[in-house]
Amino acid sequence: MAKTKRIGINTGGGDAPGLNAVIRAAVLSAKQRGWDVLGIRRGYLGLLDTRETVLLDKDSVSGIAHLGGTILGTSNRGNPFDYPASESSGGDRGNGGDGAGEVTDRSDLVVENFAKLGLDALIAIGGDGSMEIAHRLCAKGLSIVGVPKTIDNDLNGTVVTFGFHTAVRVATEAIDRLHSTAEAHDRVFTIEVMGRYAGWIALYAGLAGGADVILMPEIPFEMDRVCEKILRREARGRRFSLVVVAEGARSVGGSMATKGEPEKGREVVLGGIGEQVAREIEERTGKETRSVILGHLQRGGSPTPYDRILALRFGAAAVRVIAAGKSSVMVALDPPIVRTVPLAEATRRMKTVPLDGDVVCSARDMGICLGDQ
Ligand code: F6P
Repeated sequence: MAKTKRIGINTGGGDAPGLNAVIRAAVLSAKQRGWDVLGIRRGYLGLLDTRETVLLDKDSVSGIAHLGGTILGTSNRGNPFDYPASESSGGDRGNGGDGAGEVTDRSDLVVENFAKLGLDALIAIGGDGSMEIAHRLCAKGLSIVGVPKTIDNDLNGTVVTFGFHTAVRVATEAIDRLHSTAEAHDRVFTIEVMGRYAGWIALYAGLAGGADVILMPEIPFEMDRVCEKILRREARGRRFSLVVVAEGARSVGGSMATKGEPEKGREVVLGGIGEQVAREIEERTGKETRSVILGHLQRGGSPTPYDRILALRFGAAAVRVIAAGKSSVMVALDPPIVRTVPLAEATRRMKTVPLDGDVVCSARDMGICLGDQ
């Protein structure tokens, strides 16, 4: 008979719809095998303070697959390799610090606590940052299986991450709603969407929502091209336009719009490019232009059925992978199957929108302006 295991599960980085579905599938699959499951709270912070753990059973995950957020909490401040030196750990109720001071490597404490908690393996659900941490902890001897999460869809090695589909649906609905008010008032709207350094959400939601212009980080834009498109529409009686702008989009020779300096050990916060583009459009074309930032609305709420199924498949697959004795891999969608890719491959590069892909080509074929022509 296979040995009973004790596994941990955590959710790290920004939340994404579907996290609870992964937790549910993983816990049910593990309990089915007679294993113990320990929920590690707030990403890797729960491995720096062993009090931040909770035993999970079938009841703990009852009725949660449709819920947004995560029952385990998450954090994008708890990188044990880059931990704020001002914070004590191993007994703290730390929030990851204020980010102002120096950072220090607390990964040995994670290794120590892993053993102290009696864990055989960890299911780490997260984006690129969490997979990078998992990869480095595996190099220190821990057994970890990653599950790819992010609304940005920028994780390498998987065709899609869970959370992306839901974010696209939210953004598409917003574009649909703005369509009617833009048309009623003969206005231009810029709609800024998330996605960090990748344009997946902008491209997919823009295409689905019938945007006239889509600006993405992968294609630096020229305001002349954007305004020409709007004025061409005006000339043929289409007196409104919808411009979808990825938060990481930038003009040729320009830089990404950010909100201040990044905190130590954290990514810079992007935002503001939609408003900048709106101002320029109004100045150059004389068209009344409004801007809308969708922000965290794209991350909240219930996952779509597609994301729920994907997340459930990933959670169950992660347990099968542990049962098979594998580590340092991430489960990944390679339609029609879920397979594994090495964490080294998942973290090798960021998956951005391929410019020669059929989605970009289709957008161009339909006359959507991508800012460069
Ligand atoms: O990575 C997911 C994401 O929502 C990005 O699209 C966005 O840039 C970032 O997280 C926002 O992070 P925060 O929740 O820290 O504001």
